[in-house]
Amino acid sequence: MRAMVYRGPYRVRVEEKDKPRIEHPNDAIVRVTLAAICGSDLHLYHGMMPDTRVGHTFGHEFIGVVDEVGSSVQNLRVGDRVMVPFNVFCGSCYYCARGLYSNCHNVNPNATAVGGIYGYSHTCGGYDGGQAEFVRVPFADVGPSVIPDWMSDEDAVLCTDALATGYFGAQLGDIVEGDTVVVFGAGPVGLFAARSAWLMGAGRVIVIDHLEHRLEKARTFAYAETLNFTEYADVVVELKRLTGFLGADVAIDAVGAEADGNLVQHITAAKLKLQGGSPIALNWAIDGVRKGATISVMGAYGPIFSAVKFGDAMNKGLTLNMNQCPVKRQWPRLFEHIRNGHLKPSEIVTHRIPLDDIAEGYHLFSAKLDGIIKPLVVPGAA
Ligand SMILES: NC(=O)c1ccc[n+]([C@@H]2O[C@H](COP(=O)([O-])OP(=O)(O)OC[C@H]3O[C@@H](n4cnc5c(N)ncnc54)[C@H](O)[C@@H]3O)[C@@H](O)[C@H]2O)c1
Ligand SMILES: [Zn+2]
Ligand SMILES: [Zn+2]
Repeated sequence: MRAMVYRGPYRVRVEEKDKPRIEHPNDAIVRVTLAAICGSDLHLYHGMMPDTRVGHTFGHEFIGVVDEVGSSVQNLRVGDRVMVPFNVFCGSCYYCARGLYSNCHNVNPNATAVGGIYGYSHTCGGYDGGQAEFVRVPFADVGPSVIPDWMSDEDAVLCTDALATGYFGAQLGDIVEGDTVVVFGAGPVGLFAARSAWLMGAGRVIVIDHLEHRLEKARTFAYAETLNFTEYADVVVELKRLTGFLGADVAIDAVGAEADGNLVQHITAAKLKLQGGSPIALNWAIDGVRKGATISVMGAYGPIFSAVKFGDAMNKGLTLNMNQCPVKRQWPRLFEHIRNGHLKPSEIVTHRIPLDDIAEGYHLFSAKLDGIIKPLVVPGAA
């Protein structure tokens, strides 16, 4: 089969690989019909994620058609059109029993902090991902769902991570009616978080980034006020000014480890790897909210420490909520919103890239060229 493979930092290509096989009776093999590149894949692409091995296939956002099922699979049949959450999870451990699918304790022998994620290095279990023609889906009775007939492929693939994560980000903000919500990052996760904040009762939504084409999308898709942080000596002061000098009620970090905006933080994190990521967006969130506020962290950070302003967070009495998104838990509500027309996730898609051209897709997305917001990957489209 054709599959994207990692060759080293900033180097990916498409190669012929063995088609995955059923390895356990509850496995399924899915023929991928649509995948996506996530902002999280950029951390792998940039060589920031420990134990990302040469030959690994990325891709944790994908949908497809069931090609083969193991002997114990009961919920799926060959030919079913399925969406697969980015988390690999067992469905029965202490965490899964509580709906904390991203924290599953049975799927990743390589780490205790993080669970299993498709195509996300051996640190996250070493499962090959869906930027390929076929993918092995373990726990096939647990993770995947048959896509409702009325849902388009593009909406479905966005439910496997970006939309679910943005929505979860807004949920973890514990938004109360009328709250002012500030979202750091206008990538797919930030845009969906901003849009979801309204559904949860926000009275005002402000999105901060430095890419004008994404801020434009924040205004038209997420109906947000926007701030370009490069236009202010200190964007936190501007945020305070806009919020009666108290600060926002809720902040959502949809940026993570590779934040721009502070050279020292960027160099110590991305170049010297002395921190698990630049915490500049998170520090702006800590500074930019009012006392007693809630901060929801969706941005991903590496396993070592980052220079987070913890003392200020403590003195301000902040609540910090965070997790990898337990994707499948979000689906019933997201399906309702999509079906009712409250959300049309595919509106953020800007690029549809044939699998064979995926190297170009990574380059565009990494360098944020060509107005890119969300690239989809289409196997067999070359
Ligand atoms: N928690 C989860 O389950 C989960 C799931 C998916 C993605 N993520 C993480 O969420 C983050 C966002 O993902 P994405 O797909 O939207 O990525 P993305 O790279 O497309 O978007 C990030 C955006 O942040 C902007 N940005 C950079 N520095 C900033 C700063 N200091 N302040 C404000 N904005 C800044 C960038 O210009 C970019 O538009 C990533 O860290 C990703 O790993 C987490
Ligand atoms: Zn992702
Ligand atoms: Zn589990």
